[in-house]
Amino acid sequence: MKIAVIGGTGDMGFGLTVRLAKTHSVVIGSRDLSRAETAAEKATRVAGARVRGATNEGAARSCEAAILAVPDMPPAGLLSGLASPLRGKLVVSPIVPLKFEDGIATVSLSGESAAERVANALPSSRVASAFQNVPAPVLSQMRRQLDYDVLVTADSREVFEEAAKIVSSVSKLRPLYAGPLRVSRLVEAITPVLLNASRFSKLKSPSIRLV
Ligand SMILES: NC(=O)c1ccc[n+]([C@@H]2O[C@H](COP(=O)([O-])OP(=O)(O)OC[C@H]3O[C@@H](n4cnc5c(N)ncnc54)[C@H](OP(=O)(O)O)[C@@H]3O)[C@@H](O)[C@H]2O)c1
Repeated sequence: MKIAVIGGTGDMGFGLTVRLAKTHSVVIGSRDLSRAETAAEKATRVAGARVRGATNEGAARSCEAAILAVPDMPPAGLLSGLASPLRGKLVVSPIVPLKFEDGIATVSLSGESAAERVANALPSSRVASAFQNVPAPVLSQMRRQLDYDVLVTADSREVFEEAAKIVSSVSKLRPLYAGPLRVSRLVEAITPVLLNASRFSKLKSPSIRLV
């Protein structure tokens, strides 16, 4: 599959890129072409598989599916510019609307998820959410086994199946359907819980596994 990682110059997008590049044709998108190309060269070395760099729009145009690895709430301008090139395509949101209150991690949105906001801004795309609870640092450590569950939300089983194929193409990641996109607000909220627990219990980069 041709996958665009929008914002793939950041930790999360880079980590997903190097894990996916073995099986898929991955292009890193950035607001800045030279930054994308530099990240793509590094990803090619880390993954041992060719990764290309492009502008966010160029990456979105050339892909079959996109991962939106951009900060907490993507600016409206970014999404409106991607609506046309991502028309009819699968879009996966790993976005966590994270904020800190008195040093405690929590979510910045109430009664809504980042994934629903993405879906509203990209009405002609098939939107799923996934990967919110996978820490970026472990993704780019290629020798590390990721024995995690990845909760996936989507408004149809068909869109879930498409996103699940991307998740399960990373060895040992198990995609689990968690419900429609509105459930993403609960999945997104797990991440600050993991951050707080890791801080208080001195765990390094925890993720989740349902047993
Ligand atoms: N880091 C983690 O462990 C982790 C884990 C789970 C989920 N997530 C989620 O994954 C997403 C990406 O995380 P991250 O840590 O990689 O974020 P990040 O490093 O802060 O940002 C990722 C990339 O987004 C682009 N970007 C920054 N500001 C932008 C803006 N105003 N408009 C458009 N693009 C912008 C930048 O790329 P260019 O400057 O090259 O355009 C940047 O390299 C976040 O939503 C986060 O909540 C992260």
